[in-house]
Amino acid sequence: MKGFIAILAFLCLGVISAIYIGFGTDVKSEPKAIDVEMEGLNEKYVLKFSHVVAENTPKGLAAAMFAKLVREKTDGWVEVQIFPNGVLYDAQEEFRALLENEVHLIAPAFSEVTVHDPNWMVMDLPFVFEDELEVKRAFEGELGKKLFESIETRGYKGVAYWDNGFKQFTNRIRPVVKPRDVEGIAVRVMPSDVLMDTYKHLGASPSTHSFNEVYETLSSGQIDGTENTFSNIYSKGFYKQQEYMTVTNHNYLGYAVLMNAEFWDALPLDHQKNIEDAMGEVTDWLREYAKSHNQEMLEKLKGGNSLEIHFLTEEEKQLWRNELTPVYQKYSNVIGEELVNELLYRED
Ligand code: LMR
Repeated sequence: MKGFIAILAFLCLGVISAIYIGFGTDVKSEPKAIDVEMEGLNEKYVLKFSHVVAENTPKGLAAAMFAKLVREKTDGWVEVQIFPNGVLYDAQEEFRALLENEVHLIAPAFSEVTVHDPNWMVMDLPFVFEDELEVKRAFEGELGKKLFESIETRGYKGVAYWDNGFKQFTNRIRPVVKPRDVEGIAVRVMPSDVLMDTYKHLGASPSTHSFNEVYETLSSGQIDGTENTFSNIYSKGFYKQQEYMTVTNHNYLGYAVLMNAEFWDALPLDHQKNIEDAMGEVTDWLREYAKSHNQEMLEKLKGGNSLEIHFLTEEEKQLWRNELTPVYQKYSNVIGEELVNELLYRED
């Protein structure tokens, strides 16, 4: 791993500083969507929380726990209304809805954030994290701090990093062990330039589809493969449309919990404190739950006997890292040395 980092560090030499593209932060100054129910002299606040996964997934359960804790901690004066499964918006529409105060909390995957802040592409560089502990340290260290600072220049308040798990590769065409085994496979990815370029570089044909469209695009034959966590592969039934699964752990699927900055600033300080406390408890709980839940979903996928499963060895992973060197080089220039080095030299 150290040799690989040395190669990568060398590739980072010619670097363009991170491009901070500011979106207008002038969030429409319409009245905030504080659903005020005047009960006596008190105000009640309603936080609308939109996400795109089922309720019995790590993120779905965490959202429900957050709503319960906020209700308890504020004696009911702050109510969190959850809109799961993309019932209101898909993962990209959520960003506009948040800035326009149609919802107040979203928890998009890191790859979805890259559309609005290219610096977040650093989290899509493949085969960088060895295990969940390394991910935790990245979230809690300088990298996590810098990524929230960056997204906050665009009107979003970074509230927490939530966990799901490592992404795996599934397809119906052939067993995938070596990098070039993905050649010609139509694979669905989230809308991240790094993900698109990673698969294009290996000869696959990636395309982006929203999470709720993936099953249909698999069953129609529009795509042959996907990359996702065991939890999402199982909960959305993707495995029913696949023959092969390669346990690659090539990316980590984490979520950026974001709030509308104006809405946050308008909350009374005691409500902010209660919301932060609730968020902290849920974040800690989710880190452990997500890891065990994904392990449980892997056992279900193994037990279903519907997938031929291959676990990449460390030697095989190194072949992928070597093959993907040009992708690291390209995105080290785009993302910038500061963030890439934070990723590679984080304090373990
Ligand atoms: C996706 O592949 O779009 C999902 O990872 C979305 C999610 O929130 O888990």
